[in-house]
Amino acid sequence: MAEDRDPLTLDVDRDYVGWITLDQPESRVNLLTAPSLALLDRLIGELESRIATGKLVAVVVRSAKPGSFVHGLDVRELERVRDRSDAFEKSREAQRIFRRLERLTVPTLAAVDGMCLGGGTELIIACEHRIGSDDTTTRLGLPEVRLGILPGFGGSVRLPALVGIQSALDLILSGKTISADRAKRIGLLDRIAPKPRFEMEVSAFLKEILAGKARGKPRKKPLAKRLLEDTGPGRSLLFSIAERKTAARTKGWYPAPGRALRLVAETYGLPIDQALELEAHALAELAVTRESRSLVRIFLLQQDAKRRLGEEAMGQARRVERAAVLGAGVMGGSIAELIASHDVPVILKDIEQEALDSGLRHANELLQKASSKGRFSSGEAGLKFALIQGTLSYDKFSEVDLVIEAVVERMAVKQQVLQDVEERVPSHTIIATNTSSLSVTTLAEASSRPDRVVGIHFFNPVHRMPLVEIVRTEATSEEVLAAAFSFAVAMGKTPVLVADRPGFLVNRLLAPYLNETGYLLDDGADVLSIDAALEEFGMPMGPCRLLDEIGLDVADHVSVEMERAFGQRMRAAGVVDGLRSEGLLGRKNGRGFYRYEGAQQKGVEPVVAKRYSGTGDADAPDAEEIRQRTLHLMVNEAAYAIEEGVVESAGELDLSLVMGIGFPPFRGGLLSWADREGIPNIVESLSNFEERLGDRFAPAGLLRSMAEEDLTFTDAD
Ligand SMILES: NC(=O)c1ccc[n+]([C@@H]2O[C@H](COP(=O)([O-])OP(=O)(O)OC[C@H]3O[C@@H](n4cnc5c(N)ncnc54)[C@H](O)[C@@H]3O)[C@@H](O)[C@H]2O)c1
Repeated sequence: MAEDRDPLTLDVDRDYVGWITLDQPESRVNLLTAPSLALLDRLIGELESRIATGKLVAVVVRSAKPGSFVHGLDVRELERVRDRSDAFEKSREAQRIFRRLERLTVPTLAAVDGMCLGGGTELIIACEHRIGSDDTTTRLGLPEVRLGILPGFGGSVRLPALVGIQSALDLILSGKTISADRAKRIGLLDRIAPKPRFEMEVSAFLKEILAGKARGKPRKKPLAKRLLEDTGPGRSLLFSIAERKTAARTKGWYPAPGRALRLVAETYGLPIDQALELEAHALAELAVTRESRSLVRIFLLQQDAKRRLGEEAMGQARRVERAAVLGAGVMGGSIAELIASHDVPVILKDIEQEALDSGLRHANELLQKASSKGRFSSGEAGLKFALIQGTLSYDKFSEVDLVIEAVVERMAVKQQVLQDVEERVPSHTIIATNTSSLSVTTLAEASSRPDRVVGIHFFNPVHRMPLVEIVRTEATSEEVLAAAFSFAVAMGKTPVLVADRPGFLVNRLLAPYLNETGYLLDDGADVLSIDAALEEFGMPMGPCRLLDEIGLDVADHVSVEMERAFGQRMRAAGVVDGLRSEGLLGRKNGRGFYRYEGAQQKGVEPVVAKRYSGTGDADAPDAEEIRQRTLHLMVNEAAYAIEEGVVESAGELDLSLVMGIGFPPFRGGLLSWADREGIPNIVESLSNFEERLGDRFAPAGLLRSMAEEDLTFTDAD
């Protein structure tokens, strides 16, 4: 039943303290929306009237939502921005409301318990005082740059004034979040209180404020900070260093951090109303850029992916309370770590003690690394590690809700393992496979309950790659599918539903892209120019580097499978096979396309450099040709995949490539990029290559008909 409660309420207690409570109905988190801002405006009007009649002494802003103070602006509001002047007006309106809050003539206190992001942080810094709970869910930040914009509700102006330029830039330009403790240290919070006593401490702080005792001494800045921030030349130096660093980091692909930096430089020290107007102009400029539109699209696709099966199915999905992972290799150890890090007990089983020890060691290292990055304390890391029970036996399998098999990639072994498991687990247990190239349907043929078999395909490295492909077979039940989805979401991953076709989605699209690298080398391009061409496009690493990371043995195996499945258009180039047979396996043995010493890459492997030195001929592939051949083939394969129903929408395909291989998010995903390139242009380019280089470039039927009918992928969604 729909609730018609307001997302914000005002209660004035008998001591004349006004409590504004945020609690958005039917939502796990509080978000700012145009209506909730309008309501805040109305409540502030009511507070003003009470102040005028002497019936109000202070205002507290708090949240009634566990774990969420305010998660920021509802991103759909950004999607709805029509044009620059619309963005400007929206920013001005929110600024006016926060300014009105700031101008109240009684003390205002923000009580922050839970996530405080974007507009939430901008709201609390329009208050006079701020107290935060020490709960781990309390994190603060201004993630706007991650959506290609900047804080435009006063945050770009008020934060530098409150915490100093360097600390403010650290937050605004990176979009990262910080703990309550760190927020207190930089002066974003005045005080932290233990979570169990939070309400009491808020009241106590309020009493001090009302007694006039809370106005602490202004924080004395260290000398270096004063020299840099409080003098003209110091500030110039500071901004020019920040500009250089930002340009290096964003490589000209992301305009927001650079614009935010310029804005802070322009507005620091200006009268606030003048500064706010400049802020709204800067926001409006960014909100309509292609980069921001792309980032917003990807963000919303990610949100949609998590709700893909609908609230009802997800609500009813069985929660995994105990899990087991089979195979303690590269993937198994990392999957067990992921599960334990989310506080779910997990059995890790292998058949070799040595492999088990190595998997457990790897899991422990990952937990320690996460704790050194501040994700949790080292004590917690220890507790989480204790949730992983390493074993060589099937004892205790009678208690697990989910088994994920990550044993060697051989059908016969996997089928045997599946049968062994089924004899030992309860009837409700979900049996998932992490296979990357075998058919889940064939695997399920060995099962006595194929409706409970599903693919949960993680990517390597598991802790870093946000994508999980959920592979359904004809037999997989809806209930199992929903449980697999909700498990992936509970593990912090983005699930995408894919059909059981060879390579599923991401590896299939990667295959022609990586294979073409071999043909390019044969045609006279060299390793460095191939990688540079795609890195310039925005790929996190070029295809030769990626092949080294995957391992040339694994890549070769995959390419054989792909050729078997898809024939001529995936005919292996032979380069990877050649290098592998000479013992070059990639990063894992220090020699692949590049040479490695420990973690360091030491230039192109001499054997490779000699063989593929680049012909330097005028007709050797240049950067443009390298990009077209690799990326247009990927688009072509995407068209086949969509035609075959491997994935349901262009949006899900785009999201999968961004989350699965780091396809540049500012380009909005492969198909969104292809649409902008023009489908007819891509068909023409493929046809030209087909004529010159062979059948593998033959445009897919779907692509041809789209070109003829002037259709785009993203419009079809
Ligand atoms: N490595 C990757 O990048 C990657 C990525 C995604 C998916 N996968 C898939 O994950 C699975 C595992 O891959 P990996 O790279 O971790 O392999 P791996 O060779 O590193 O590990 C496999 C482990 O399984 C163990 N094992 C073999 N038979 C077993 C059995 N009957 N019971 C329990 N353990 C058994 C082996 O001792 C070994 O420790 C494969 O299906 C692979 O396709 C791998």
